[in-house]
Amino acid sequence: MPAVVVIGGQWGDEGKGRVVDFHSRYCSVIARYSAGNNAGHTVINERGKFALHLVPAGIFAADKTCVIGNGVVIDPEKLLTEIGMLSERGVSTAKLLISQHAHMIMPWHRIIDKADEAMRGALAIGTTGTGTGPAFHDKVGRLGIRVADLMDAESFAYKLKHTLEYKNRVLAGMYGLDPLNYEDILEEYTEYAEKLRPFVADTMSFVQEADARGEMILLEGAQGSLLDLDSGTYPYVTSSVPASVAAGGAIGIGLGPTAIERVVGVYKAYQTRVGNGCMPTEILDGPDMEMLREGVGGAAGTAEYGTTTGRARRVGWFDGVLARYTARLNGVTSVALTRLDSLSAFDSIKICVAYEVDDKRVATLPATTRDAERARPIYEELPGWKKDVTGVRALGDLPTEARQYIRRIEQIVGAPVDMISVGPERHQAIVTRDIFGASI
Ligand code: IMP
Ligand code: MG
Repeated sequence: MPAVVVIGGQWGDEGKGRVVDFHSRYCSVIARYSAGNNAGHTVINERGKFALHLVPAGIFAADKTCVIGNGVVIDPEKLLTEIGMLSERGVSTAKLLISQHAHMIMPWHRIIDKADEAMRGALAIGTTGTGTGPAFHDKVGRLGIRVADLMDAESFAYKLKHTLEYKNRVLAGMYGLDPLNYEDILEEYTEYAEKLRPFVADTMSFVQEADARGEMILLEGAQGSLLDLDSGTYPYVTSSVPASVAAGGAIGIGLGPTAIERVVGVYKAYQTRVGNGCMPTEILDGPDMEMLREGVGGAAGTAEYGTTTGRARRVGWFDGVLARYTARLNGVTSVALTRLDSLSAFDSIKICVAYEVDDKRVATLPATTRDAERARPIYEELPGWKKDVTGVRALGDLPTEARQYIRRIEQIVGAPVDMISVGPERHQAIVTRDIFGASI
């Protein structure tokens, strides 16, 4: 049986967690394949509200195996805290596996993340400050320390000693910071090693064998495609290697690309972004901005603030140019449209269908930051529905204007909208086609 990838079609925070939560019932393995604890997934189910940063959102189904794949970078302290939080709240982590090939976030990564942002001045990215970027930097620079190294005390002591000598020179020489102490880190990470040991596995073989047995594997993307290192709004992107786009799912878990048969693109019914970088449809102030950010007209508790950092998200209208781009880039076969309810208070709703750059109409985002920031959105305006939709469970029960909005998004993206969320609770969704086969 094939693997299915769930990816974010925008700048992250599209609501991938709940979409993974929904589809995971059909899959026996749910895996994260990229990024680190810069990611934040909110899942709301009958046990309450959970903010997950590293553990796959499939963890709530006790019979599934959840895998943190080779493409993820792991902050051991953060992962243990998350495992502890889940156990305390009665969620079993007995079937969680951590790849021995995953790289670790080390104390210098968090320090460098913040110091480097400060040093960049005008070139600052607006990172989450979690050390994720510097950990990937070291992975590519071949200075990373992997989970397998941590599991071998001798190997870890050797690697730590020599990597730290290098890093202390960087901390002092480049950033004017105090050196870190070898014994302290050794002691701290040795404790993590013992606590993580029961979870560590050869996850590549595990997933390959599950695939060979014909089991369904769900690959959970982190971040959005527009934050991807290659395809996103560079340099205002995240540093994940492999990519956060669907193709990265194969590399980041250890499967061949032919294993991926379906790609679910998760899109919010409008646009949000945290951190710096262009956002052509951004609304900078006024009542529309307030309404989008605070989720006015939708279910309570849907305000736009970051799961990881608590930062207020930048908000704007749905960007059809970028949505079509990311749909093609990922090979999206099915769209999940989230937070439709947040648009319920608007008289009319805009969709960006092209940009204007220097009086020219263009259908793609310019490549340089300077040009991308000058791109002015060309909007189509659709009528709003001005009705509460949080209780709707069938497409036919949505107001005509809401269905019109969904149809327009399907045309622009070029893939069917199979799921629509109308509130944060698990049951607040309209499923029009079950991607695993059955029509509804
Ligand atoms: P980094 O991944 O911490 O290096 O941050 C790089 C950029 O990606 C910043 O603009 C962050 O705000 C953004 N970013 C990273 N992870 C997420 C996420 O899970 N949701 C939304 N934005 C993110
Ligand atoms: Mg998030």
